Amino acid sequence: MERSQALTGNSFEAHQQRRLALIERMIRGGGGIAVIPTSPEQARNRDTHYPYRADSYFQYLTGFTEPEAVLVIVVGRSDAPPQSILFCREKNLEREIWDGFRHGPEGACEVFGFDAAHAIGELDSKLPEMLADQPALWFSIGQDAGWDRRIASALNTVRAESRSGKRAPATVRDVRAELDAMRLVKDAAELGIMRRAAAISTTAHIRAMRFVAPGRFEYEVEAELLHEFRRQGCEYPAYTSIVAGGANACVLHYVGNDQVLRDGDLLLIDAGGELTGYASDITRSFPVNGRFSGPQADVYDMVLDAQAAAIAAVRPGGTFADPHEAALKVLAQGMLDLKLLQGSLDGVIESESYKRFYMHRTSHWLGKDVHDVGEYKEGEHWAPLLPGMVLTIEPGCYIRPADDVPKAFWNIGVRIEDDAVVTAAACEIITLAAPKKIADIEALMRDGRGG
Ligand code: GLY
Ligand code: MN
Ligand code: MN
Repeated sequence: MERSQALTGNSFEAHQQRRLALIERMIRGGGGIAVIPTSPEQARNRDTHYPYRADSYFQYLTGFTEPEAVLVIVVGRSDAPPQSILFCREKNLEREIWDGFRHGPEGACEVFGFDAAHAIGELDSKLPEMLADQPALWFSIGQDAGWDRRIASALNTVRAESRSGKRAPATVRDVRAELDAMRLVKDAAELGIMRRAAAISTTAHIRAMRFVAPGRFEYEVEAELLHEFRRQGCEYPAYTSIVAGGANACVLHYVGNDQVLRDGDLLLIDAGGELTGYASDITRSFPVNGRFSGPQADVYDMVLDAQAAAIAAVRPGGTFADPHEAALKVLAQGMLDLKLLQGSLDGVIESESYKRFYMHRTSHWLGKDVHDVGEYKEGEHWAPLLPGMVLTIEPGCYIRPADDVPKAFWNIGVRIEDDAVVTAAACEIITLAAPKKIADIEALMRDGRGG
C-alpha cells in the first residue's frame, strides 16, 4: 500500500470512485465493455527509452503507473455486477533485478482495488470471450494504430464464432468522450495534487529569478528549474521548459535554451513541474539585470493589467471565453496607447489587428495534460465554467522589429501565466507565490540572491 501511494500520491479510493463514475455513464449509455490501455514504452535510441509516462486516461482511472497494462471494465451483462479488471505484467524476479519492482496481477489487485487482475499475456486470448455478446465496445479508436488492429482482430475472432451464437458488439463508442467530461471537473484528490504541483513550480520560478544574471546561459536557468522540480518530488517537467532571453521570447514555442542572457534584455520563462501525473503551467517574464527599463515596464504592466482583468472574469456562470475577451480589451487599448497600433478599440478588436502582437488565446484547460482534455465549445456556445475546472490565464505581447513599430519596443516579449481553479464564488489562483508585480520582482532580484 505504501509503495503504491508513493507512486501515485493518491489513495486508491479516488481512482475507484472514478471507475464507478465511468460505469454509471456506461450504464446510462446502454452498457458494454470498456478497454483502456496505457501508453507504450518509447525507444529513444539503441537500448535507451524515453522516461516512461503512463497514459493520462489510464492513470486517471487506475493510479497504476507500470507499462504494459490495460484496464477492462465490463458492465454489459445483467446477470453479473460491473467489474474492473486489470491486465498487467507478471512478477518476474529476473526482470525486477534489471528493471525494478512489478506489482504483478495479484499485488495490483490488492493494492489498487480491482475486482480481478490477469497477466498481460492473457489479454489477446481473453478479449474475444469478454467482448462476446456485449452491446457496445467503449474504446479510444484512432488513438494508436497498433491497438486499433488488436481490437479489430479480437472483434473478428468473435464474429468468426457467430455460428455458435456469439455476437460481437454492435457499436464501438469513443470512451474518451465520457472521460474527457469527467476529467474536465477535478475532484478533491486531483485539486490537492495540482495545488502542490503549482506550489513546487512557483518555488522553481523564484529560484530562477534569484539565479539569473547577465552572462548566464538559458540552459543554466533551465537546470535550476529542473533541479527544483525534481528536488521536491515532481517526476518530470510537465512540458519542455521555455527559457527565452531577449528576442527569443517572441518565439512562442522556443525550446533551444542555448543562448547567453544579455544585460538589458527580458527573460521569459514558461515552465511547470508534473507531480503524480498532474501538470502545472507558469510563465514569468523579468529583466536579466533585475531592473525593468521604461519600455519593458510599459509592455509588462499592460500584460499584467490584462491578466488581472482576465482573472476577474473567471467565475461559475461565466464561460471559457470570458477571460480571453476581458484580456483582449485591455491589451488592445494598451497597444493603442503605446502606439503599437492605430485606430479605435472597437476597430482593433473587430479587425483582429492585435493578433500581430498577441496571437494565442488566453486560456486552456489544465490537468493531467498541460493542454488538458475537455470541450471548449459546443456549436456556437463556449463551455460554461463550473467549480472544479482548472484553466490557465496567460495573456502576452510579443513585439518583433518592424519599421512601423516604435524601436524602443523591439524584441520585447512578455507573457504572464497563472493557473486558476474555478470555485463556488469566483476562482483560486494556485500559482500566486511566484512574484509578478514589477516592484516584487525587482525586490526579489535585488535582495533575494543567494537566499
Ligand atoms: N506551456 C504551454 C502553454 O503555456 O500553453
Ligand atoms: Mn499554458
Ligand atoms: Mn505555459
